[in-house]
Amino acid sequence: MLKVDHLSYSYKKIQALRDVSFELQPGEIMAIIGANGAGKSTLMKCIAGVLRPSNGHVALNGEVLPPRAHEVVKRRMVLVPEGRWIFPGLTIEENLEIGAYTVSSSAEGKERAFSMFPKLKERRRQRAGTLSGGEQQMLAIARGLMANPEIIMLDEPSLGLAPLIVNDIIRIIQEINRKGVSVLLVEQNAKKALAIADRACVLEQGRIVKRGSGKELAADESIIQSYLGGK
Ligand SMILES: Nc1ncnc2c1ncn2[C@@H]1O[C@H](COP(=O)(O)OP(=O)(O)OP(=O)(O)O)[C@@H](O)[C@H]1O
Ligand SMILES: [Mg+2]
Repeated sequence: MLKVDHLSYSYKKIQALRDVSFELQPGEIMAIIGANGAGKSTLMKCIAGVLRPSNGHVALNGEVLPPRAHEVVKRRMVLVPEGRWIFPGLTIEENLEIGAYTVSSSAEGKERAFSMFPKLKERRRQRAGTLSGGEQQMLAIARGLMANPEIIMLDEPSLGLAPLIVNDIIRIIQEINRKGVSVLLVEQNAKKALAIADRACVLEQGRIVKRGSGKELAADESIIQSYLGGK
């Protein structure tokens, strides 16, 4: 349903994406793994309409998407960006409301978000800056769910979190997926990402150099050496 077609992107002198193509099928978890600087965030931003691709396009159910963030969110595709971007001085509830700007019912969105994150509900009137790193990541994901997405794109949700919290985040991603949301997951934590991915792509210097099922890539000798810390 989501088709990324011959996408390229350049920041002035740096070509960050080179002819990237793949499809995300309904109900699927697709992982994009790659080293620092491989172009993962640039790819997410191009798909989310935050950056306008230099070449190629993104299509949803056959319709080419205008490269504008609000047009993409309107079609129920949501990016949870790297670095979370929560507002520490606003309450948890206010942070969630920001995610509801495209939907008619903020109350319904909050109900959906709080049902998945009961801890956030208990603390909804506290400032988001009082949350731990893992809780802030959950808030960022919860805010993404406010728009009732069909596709959620997560850019390095485990970044900087302790292993146990990473496991919680991974479980939450699976739970979101089980509720019918397709997931595009960018991760430096390749092992965890490949363990839950139906399919995955490896991005190197802006190019997809390998693709396969999560299982296949997790067992691939060169991937193990480069991304899974050897074995
Ligand atoms: N705003 C920018 N201006 C110039 N170059 C940029 C900009 N943002 C990213 N780049 C460059 O584009 C390339 C891809 O960056 P990108 O952030 O997409 O990588 P990434 O795979 O997300 O890396 P990381 O794992 O560190 O998040 C890198 O060489 C980076 O230095
Ligand atoms: Mg990045």
